[in-house]
Amino acid sequence: MRDRRDLPKDFSWGVSTAAYQVEGAVGEDGRGPSIWDEFVARPGAVRDGHTGEFACDHYHRYAEDVALMRGLGLDGYRFSIAWPRIQPAGSGPANPAGLDFYERLVDALLAVGITPLPTLFHWDLPQALEDGGGWLARDTAYRFAEYAEIVAERLGDRVPAWITFNEPFVHMVYGYALGIHAPGRTLMLDALPVAHHQLLGHGLAAAVLRERGAQVMIANNLSPVWPASQEPADVAAAAAYDALHNRLFTDPLLLGRYPDLSAYGVAPDLGGCVRPGDLELIAGPGLDGLGVNYYNPTRIAAPTEPGGLPFAEAAIEGVPRTAFGWPVVPDGLRELLVGLRDRYGDALPPITITENGCSVADEPGPGGTVLDQPRIDYLAGHLDALAAAVAEGVDVRGYFTWSLLDNFEWAEGYEQRFGLVHVDFTTQRRTPKASYAWYRDLIGAHRVRHAR
Ligand code: GAL
Repeated sequence: MRDRRDLPKDFSWGVSTAAYQVEGAVGEDGRGPSIWDEFVARPGAVRDGHTGEFACDHYHRYAEDVALMRGLGLDGYRFSIAWPRIQPAGSGPANPAGLDFYERLVDALLAVGITPLPTLFHWDLPQALEDGGGWLARDTAYRFAEYAEIVAERLGDRVPAWITFNEPFVHMVYGYALGIHAPGRTLMLDALPVAHHQLLGHGLAAAVLRERGAQVMIANNLSPVWPASQEPADVAAAAAYDALHNRLFTDPLLLGRYPDLSAYGVAPDLGGCVRPGDLELIAGPGLDGLGVNYYNPTRIAAPTEPGGLPFAEAAIEGVPRTAFGWPVVPDGLRELLVGLRDRYGDALPPITITENGCSVADEPGPGGTVLDQPRIDYLAGHLDALAAAVAEGVDVRGYFTWSLLDNFEWAEGYEQRFGLVHVDFTTQRRTPKASYAWYRDLIGAHRVRHAR
């Protein structure tokens, strides 16, 4: 295999979005408040006071958005289901109007030959559950499984595979440890129960979904970790960071145990929240697929001050950067994928890239076109790296780019644009960018090649 043009025949092409980032319509059809509705109302929490109140108005414009996906020739669409639309207070009976919306969306996708790949939790917890402790509370895992059952009951006959959680690492660290995302808690290492309770929620929901014959995946944010030097202190710090970022949310699922967190002074029972039988539940019969969200590698050095975290983040120099300032290292994706295969061996299920993309400061030019060449370069480089990993024997089944549309980028509001399609947030006008045409042509050429 030389590059992206040689990916296997059955390789799937997709795009990803998430409910709070695109839907808007936060007060409609019985949706209850989520932790993000509460968080965005806090002064200073989100850049320029932006909120997801209207976002891309996808709730009303989903048919137009499905038409854009059809124009790309996609195989799959990864979106998330807003728990507060299904159970406005996080428990109890279903809100039929919420289920109806996702049914309309799923049916619209299937009608044009696009396979729905829903994520059940992409960070928008019902506020009522947060009031009871959120993911710090073990009970939330059980509520999650009930919610999964309600959704599967309605859509399970049309959805072949589900993603339980999106980036439980980011939700724990940004949401509960650092307070950058909702629910805005700043608990540092006391946030660790959030890891266990999300994973327990995954295990409980996975059992419910599997009973119905569905496939179960998770989408983990993973990053190759580079020690800043080969000095033992930097190497040890990198291993400690790797345990937190990569292993904490993947080892229990694939190996049935937590990684060594002794560098953090944390025992294997994560502060007492792991109960007998939990790890068996979390691992279950294994994952049907591992979703990998990859954006960039992380460079780690020994901590400069004693007594704090056992690592310090170091800058990656000499590479291009996205508008967000993230380093662009396409080969990091190959390194990550090969590293996962080497780490987990036979325990590693097939991989799907469930997110990869970049923000570009792109706006329509005089003729109305949006020339986002840096995004095309980013996607091409990462798909070549993916193809290189496949050539090295890693089983990668598909690629879902983040994102279809410019959308609400969490704490950055509407500042960072990740879409293949430009959105004017005043008029809601959608304008496919140059990268949209590039992706469409790449998918089309892949089909033609394999139709021969
Ligand atoms: C991921 C997240 C997405 C999106 C993306 C770009 O961490 O799952 O929702 O925001 O990053 O920052």
